[in-house]
Amino acid sequence: MKFLILFVGFLSVTAFADEFSREALVNADYKQGRVTFQQRCSACHTLAEGGSSLVGPNLYGVFGDKPGQQESFGYSDAMKSVDFEWTAASIGKFIADPEGLVPGTRMMIPEGVPEADRVAIVAFMMLETGAADWPRPVLEEDVLPEGASIAEKHPSFWNHMMQFKMKFMLKQKQFLKSSMYN
Ligand code: HEC
Repeated sequence: MKFLILFVGFLSVTAFADEFSREALVNADYKQGRVTFQQRCSACHTLAEGGSSLVGPNLYGVFGDKPGQQESFGYSDAMKSVDFEWTAASIGKFIADPEGLVPGTRMMIPEGVPEADRVAIVAFMMLETGAADWPRPVLEEDVLPEGASIAEKHPSFWNHMMQFKMKFMLKQKQFLKSSMYN
């Protein structure tokens, strides 16, 4: 009887502690995660396979890896010497307080990611780095008509894109040239 009580107690504690349960990740808000990543991480990190490293390393395949594994990136000694695995929960901890999880890390962020955004950003990162075993949600921009502009089709690139419009005359006709630079 004692054993049964202990067992039930253990189950409810883990259910509470697991902020990053698979269910929470699958149901997370993709757009909230994407915006949070763009605002807080994209200046220093890319997520796509083969993406370049910026101030921080490209993060494709990071889930399941130990910290500091990309050979081409110059990590801090601190990052290379810690020994744990990047999971949804450990990345959640790291972005809440990088220095708290990896003392001496060179990753400097002005403030930790607020709790309310953490599950969404981690779920978004899993989807974009090949770690999620659930499908990416279908968003309105994925079903825009053929003629939609690049900016409408790829709003996630918009903050890095410049638009340039030019009007010119050629053989009595007026042309409008519109270019996008990323
Ligand atoms: C100012 C630039 C900068 C920003 C902003 C930044 N990072 Fe980093 N990040 C780094 C650097 C530099 C490292 C390597 C740290 C080291 O070697 O100690 C790193 C390392 C990491 C790692 C470990 C990678 C590995 O290969 O072990 C993860 C995961 C990570 N960052 C996620 C994030 C997330 C998520 C955000 C946004 C919430 C973020 N970073 C924001 C610069 C940044």
